[in-house]
Amino acid sequence: MSTSVELIKEAEFSHNLNREEIVTILKDDSCNEELFQAADRVRKKYVGDEVHLRGLIEFSNICKRNCLYCGLRASNKNLDRYRLEPDEIIELAKKAVEYGYKTIVMQSGEDEFYTLDKMKYIISNIKKLDVAITLSIGEKSFEEYKAYKEAGADRYLIRIETTDKKLYEDLDPGMSHNERKRCLEDLKELGYEVGSGSLIGLPNQTLESLADDILFFKEIGADMIGLGPFIPNEDTPLKNEKGGEFTMSLKVMAITRLLMPDTNIPATTAMETISRNGRIVALQSGANVVMPNVTEGEYRKMYALYPGKACAGDTPAHCVGCITGKITSIGRSVSSTKGFRVRKKITT
Ligand code: 5AD
Ligand code: SF4
Ligand code: FES
Repeated sequence: MSTSVELIKEAEFSHNLNREEIVTILKDDSCNEELFQAADRVRKKYVGDEVHLRGLIEFSNICKRNCLYCGLRASNKNLDRYRLEPDEIIELAKKAVEYGYKTIVMQSGEDEFYTLDKMKYIISNIKKLDVAITLSIGEKSFEEYKAYKEAGADRYLIRIETTDKKLYEDLDPGMSHNERKRCLEDLKELGYEVGSGSLIGLPNQTLESLADDILFFKEIGADMIGLGPFIPNEDTPLKNEKGGEFTMSLKVMAITRLLMPDTNIPATTAMETISRNGRIVALQSGANVVMPNVTEGEYRKMYALYPGKACAGDTPAHCVGCITGKITSIGRSVSSTKGFRVRKKITT
């Protein structure tokens, strides 16, 4: 059995680890720096020093689902709800383009107000701004995904949350893990760039299960992988749980980079929320994307997936300057492209 350091050294070039090997690294905190530095080198070699910024519009916090960890869950009566009109969303996208964003990410709870016609209207109008469009609006049918794509959507984010079927179905009442996977398959088949990801530190989640998550992303060939700690929310049934740790989240992310050298990996807001400068540390440990919030006013605070969300009290203008400054201060640059995944030949 190899030691963690040996496994990290090998994986930096082979981009392969099995379940047991991943668990060995996750368990052992004595070589975290080696892991983060190896992931940083792989990032630099395959996706370079450019950081892609994606402007995130959180356009509705209304959700029909009841995920136990999430503040937007339908049963949470302690949250003021909002939804933006289609034209308001398009206006926010125009402002995001003025700030320099080349990708707009539209995220919401699963809100049935946004019918197919409304979504097609929003997508096709934002598309006129010459930007890439990412959707993050949950589980839909093949036909709906197809129609969004034809209207101009390029990418779709839908986290598997955890590959542990039982844990998933315990935490997401009424939802089916198979259906979640069906969504990912349909999106892939339709030619989207597909993003997935998981929560780190869910109650009853094991290191083996985190290893399975990483291997799952590789197996489905995910183009984007968003990972972040689970942060307990007072207004949810999981309010007394411990929550995920920053270091563990960073380790899962770094191993993901070792195994998937040319994929796009965001430094997530959840990482920033539990650790000051967490996004910058993530950018130096394998990540190459940041998704600053471009939602305006009170809505930012109302999109309360978890408490203390980084940047909730800031403005879109402040965030774009802030993050650009931080990125350049670590010797990286902000990309001026749409930031599609560029497939690279894997050299071992
Ligand atoms: N802590 C961290 N992330 C959360 N999400 C939902 N609730 C929480 C929480 N309490 C994440 C889920 C979802 C994404 C939009 O937000 O992974 O896919
Ligand atoms: Fe709704 Fe997504 Fe929150 Fe689940 S995680 S309650 S689907 S917004
Ligand atoms: Fe929002 Fe720094 S990016 S305050």
